[in-house]
Amino acid sequence: NERTFIAIKPDRIAEIISRFERKGFKLVAIKIMVPSKEFAQKHYHDLKDRPFFNGLCGFLSSGPVIAMGFIKYGRKLIGATDPQRSEPGTIRGDLAVVVGRNIIHGSDGPETAKDEINLWFKPQELVNYRSNAEKWIYGVN
Ligand code: GTP
Ligand code: MG
Repeated sequence: NERTFIAIKPDRIAEIISRFERKGFKLVAIKIMVPSKEFAQKHYHDLKDRPFFNGLCGFLSSGPVIAMGFIKYGRKLIGATDPQRSEPGTIRGDLAVVVGRNIIHGSDGPETAKDEINLWFKPQELVNYRSNAEKWIYGVN
């Protein structure tokens, strides 16, 4: 079961969580926090040489972030990095305009998901349970 880490900015919390829920993603961890700049730099460490790194970390640490861990099935819901190029129907395509303010972060693969979930959550903050979606959407018992 592949995991993903998702972080969103406030204002569209319910709408964004609802899209993952509708699709059948299983929420296994959630919290709200204001990350420090140092924490944001850790989170985006692979982008440290990019010209927008400082602004990006400043933005992430500028206010509350809702951090979530999901058991997931695909990254298509989020859309392309640049919201101007995201398909309508995706979260960024429908709800964002500017690349530096694209309202949602999603880990880019199973390995980074593991690292990011470990960075944002303690092991005891991850909840193990069987959701209805697993039975009705995926057909597992
Ligand atoms: P994340 O889900 O946030 O990791 O986005 P991504 O995987 O689609 O893109 P990437 O990891 O390459 O970049 C991380 C974040 O940096 C993006 O979500 C953008 O907010 C920001 N970013 C990426 N490219 C640019 C850029 O060219 N200019 C600016 N200002 N920000 C950028
Ligand atoms: Mg990325």
